[in-house]
Amino acid sequence: VREGNGIKGLADSSISRVPDEFVQPPHERIDKLEMKRHHIPPPIDLYQLDGPNHDQTVEALTEAAENVGLFQVVNHGVPTQLLERLKDTAHPFFNQPTEKKVIYLKEVSSNTFVEYASSFAPEKEEVFEWSDHLKMTYGGDAEALKYWPEECREVALDYLNTANKMVRRILEVLLIKLGVTLYDETADAYIVSKTVTMNFYPKCSNPELTVGIGRHSDIGTLTVLLQDEVGGLYVKVEDEKEGHWVEIPPIPGALVINIGDTLEILSNGRYKSVEHRVGTTNTKTRVSIPFLVRPQLTDRIGPLHQVVERDGVANYREVIFYEYMKNKFEKGHVGKTIDFAKI
Ligand code: SIN
Ligand code: FE2
Repeated sequence: VREGNGIKGLADSSISRVPDEFVQPPHERIDKLEMKRHHIPPPIDLYQLDGPNHDQTVEALTEAAENVGLFQVVNHGVPTQLLERLKDTAHPFFNQPTEKKVIYLKEVSSNTFVEYASSFAPEKEEVFEWSDHLKMTYGGDAEALKYWPEECREVALDYLNTANKMVRRILEVLLIKLGVTLYDETADAYIVSKTVTMNFYPKCSNPELTVGIGRHSDIGTLTVLLQDEVGGLYVKVEDEKEGHWVEIPPIPGALVINIGDTLEILSNGRYKSVEHRVGTTNTKTRVSIPFLVRPQLTDRIGPLHQVVERDGVANYREVIFYEYMKNKFEKGHVGKTIDFAKI
């Protein structure tokens, strides 16, 4: 896209209106007024997991995972200072001259540990999204790290390590609540591959026509999301009708946790992956930094047997994670695409 300077380059070119290929069809545009009418529960205090309020906290986590598929957390163990450093690292990366960034394009770097790009699935998306991203992936082999941009490496790895502890704790709580007997490997197998992404959403002249990232559910087990103070994350909450969209307001120091498709499948549908999307603004450049954990590409995922025994029926078939991922990329950001695994 745009000779390697991404959407950032396009935004800088002082166009007065976005090119047609960024104009969303009316049903994909974001109605911000509609959003203001709904709210989701306040952040969950993870400290309380280790205190007298343990049971209520577990209840709050599982209820949010069942009903919305997303919640915010505070006292999560990732230092605020680290969150600030992350945001401060994202901006300069994308603001660099093009030639410093192009080396991380998939076609140029030709490795799977780093990816700089502007669209989720450019060949598939009918309308392009208004954002650039840098993905850094780690699967346990330190070799991966040398491919990450040097200026992001240390801070991204710090985030990966601290956020991972929290993710593991939350996953354990959710699995235990399902009646799954946990051995150390059980939880770890579902979070073995870890990706820190830096998303960059430049100012956009036509926020009413565009999206930063289109409707999707995350593919992995859980995602931890750091968003800056700009806002623009919206999630779909199911109701009796066709569901409604809710804005997830930035809360300083808080992190957003969302349930991915993998956890929905493992839990036989008890926990729901959440459909979400991101808007654009014409006043500020936004950054967000998701940390996504998932199984290995060659792993098989399906409903956990303890859960199926209790439910008496499997609602999803077993799929190879890689096949599931391929299907998702073929569809692009067209909403929640879990049907591939549904029975
Ligand atoms: C994402 O869904 O990947 C990004 C969400 C956000 O930027 O808030
Ligand atoms: Fe996402």
